[in-house]
Amino acid sequence: MKRFENIPLRRIIAGWFLLLVFTGQVFTETPAAADPFPERIVLNLTQTPHLSQAVSWRSRKNGQAPAAQIVPVSHLLEAESHAVTVKADTCQVKIDDQRDVFHHSVVFESLLPDTEYAYRVGDDPHWSEWSRFNTASGRKDPFRFVFFGDVQKEVAALGSQLFRTAVMVVPDAAFWLFAGDMMDNGPDDREWAEFFDAVSWMPKTFPLVPVPGNHEYPDPRIIPRNERRITPLWRPHFTLPDNGPPGLEETVYSLSYQGMCLIVLNGNEQMDAQAEWLETVLSRNTATWVIVAVHQPVYPISKRRHITTFQEALVPIFDRFAVDLVLQGHDHGYARTKPLKNHQPVTGTEKGTVYIISNSGPKFYTLSDRYDHLMARTGSKEMLFHTIEVDENTLRFTAFDLMRQPVDEVVIHKSMP
Ligand SMILES: [Fe+2]
Ligand SMILES: [Fe+2]
Repeated sequence: MKRFENIPLRRIIAGWFLLLVFTGQVFTETPAAADPFPERIVLNLTQTPHLSQAVSWRSRKNGQAPAAQIVPVSHLLEAESHAVTVKADTCQVKIDDQRDVFHHSVVFESLLPDTEYAYRVGDDPHWSEWSRFNTASGRKDPFRFVFFGDVQKEVAALGSQLFRTAVMVVPDAAFWLFAGDMMDNGPDDREWAEFFDAVSWMPKTFPLVPVPGNHEYPDPRIIPRNERRITPLWRPHFTLPDNGPPGLEETVYSLSYQGMCLIVLNGNEQMDAQAEWLETVLSRNTATWVIVAVHQPVYPISKRRHITTFQEALVPIFDRFAVDLVLQGHDHGYARTKPLKNHQPVTGTEKGTVYIISNSGPKFYTLSDRYDHLMARTGSKEMLFHTIEVDENTLRFTAFDLMRQPVDEVVIHKSMP
């Protein structure tokens, strides 16, 4: 700094300003903002993940012909002649600062089961890099997936660490399921930016199965609870099965994956309509395993709130159709129940449902002991993720902490008819 000490400060500032103008760093947008570069690329499972695959992304400027290209990985080096191009659907969304952005989506159809594909998205010549995914086999072959509870706070700073740990522990996950409250304020696009920063390249390879939490809705202190609708940013960011009850499409849905029926419920609205829909889906189910994911827990462990709505609306249906596992969040602690039926632990060889509450972020609640008689394990102040390993006869659930240590496990056996 010594050599500047006789030069007036305003001359130094003016000099730097001119340098920035000449190097193009003032009055021009960054390339990512000026061109239709793809960002926030995310895979989602379809209703038939052995035959199709959904991908969504956004750009800050609309292009001429947004599209996705796909090629079997075995032909990636000849992609120019082998890739198939699929035109994208595009919608325009106004975000917080009144800017318009453009969300695009493609569903790759007529894929081969049990096959690794490479794909890229964009608007020629602004393509993403190639990423890879595997289609499901369409048979009852073993597979495993990852389940996260609420991340919600410090998503970039700490959530990112859990995501990286999950990739190291489960490099072959079929998909990643988030049980809601992926961020603290879902209507705020900046929090979506933070989430995508934290998950980095991972949702380009591990399809996301998102469950709507209450934090993906507007704050009830601003909009009355019964008038709230999911953030307008939810549907543009994802391309989810459209098979839920009317009005709840892409927030309530079901899909089949190698012998498992996976059902996502939306605990924020219209539970009666969802209960009716759930009964219909389960009455037609032919899969070996049934897993339900819903953000708000059936048997809450938080000391400060106790909502029993789901016990009345859902447990009779879970019991009747012998649902195997229910994945939940919301209470910022960890809990695994014993196998339950009619709100009690089952005895002998009777079939019961195991309910899990998970927490994957650094926000922690004080736990209540009100349902301790139903619990096999509870825990607080842990950031956890979980693997669920599915095969024809057993379903193995394991909880891992940030140190990659398994801290809880249960194996559910499929009883012979
Ligand atoms: Fe929540
Ligand atoms: Fe939460």
